[in-house]
Amino acid sequence: MEIICENLTKIYRQGDREDVTAVNDCAWHLPTGSITVLLGVSGSGKSTLLRLLGLQEQPTSGRILFDGEDVTALDESARARLRAHRIGFIHQNYRLIPMLSVEENILLPRRIIGQRCDEEELKKLAALLHIENKLANFPASLSGGQQQRVAIARALINHPPLILADEPTGNLDSGTKQDMIELFSKVHQLYSPTVVIVTHDHALTAIADQVYQMENGHPILRTR
Ligand SMILES: Nc1ncnc2c1ncn2[C@@H]1O[C@H](COP(=O)(O)OP(=O)(O)OP(=O)(O)O)[C@@H](O)[C@H]1O
Ligand SMILES: [Mg+2]
Repeated sequence: MEIICENLTKIYRQGDREDVTAVNDCAWHLPTGSITVLLGVSGSGKSTLLRLLGLQEQPTSGRILFDGEDVTALDESARARLRAHRIGFIHQNYRLIPMLSVEENILLPRRIIGQRCDEEELKKLAALLHIENKLANFPASLSGGQQQRVAIARALINHPPLILADEPTGNLDSGTKQDMIELFSKVHQLYSPTVVIVTHDHALTAIADQVYQMENGHPILRTR
């Protein structure tokens, strides 16, 4: 899936407090099947930009095109359909459903699009992410790093053409982190989704086709 952002701006209005311009006049091109890493200091607008791409928030102005279609012009039900069918989102704070088991959390995106549980894919992903013995657990009984891996499995289970990951290695030790980096490469060889990874972790730039840095509310291409 090819993504184009045109003049994308997100301003949070806060009543009597000062407005925050989190994303400012962003122009961005993510070629089909590319892996993009987005770096930037805390508060620079990385998560906001990712949520805009994930159709979780509407921009204040500007457009986002998915394969040429202006998705910012769609109504909420069409956007929800796109989210369910085309986007895998890994949140900065996981957002697992506490009353569902690990297995049910991972398979939730399949249920949402009315597809049967893909047991084979579930086992494969769980093994790759080293959570195969946690499938019956509930999220509260997992470590932060384990929860993060469940969130990653959930984002990948439908093989979405767009994967958006907000600090996916933030809570992982270096060994698990290396596995994760390999997992992203493997997934990529498997079906070539377009991937955006927000991170502070320069190790992830090794698998990137392009590396950007968020500055003044928009991504600037970095030369490595
Ligand atoms: N819902 C909101 N309401 C008001 N301000 C917000 C909201 N969400 C984000 N912001 C503000 O927008 C700016 C960008 O925040 P964002 O979370 O996108 O940064 P970030 O680059 O992801 O930071 P971090 O690396 O700490 O995760 C910050 O100043 C933040 O306070
Ligand atoms: Mg963030």
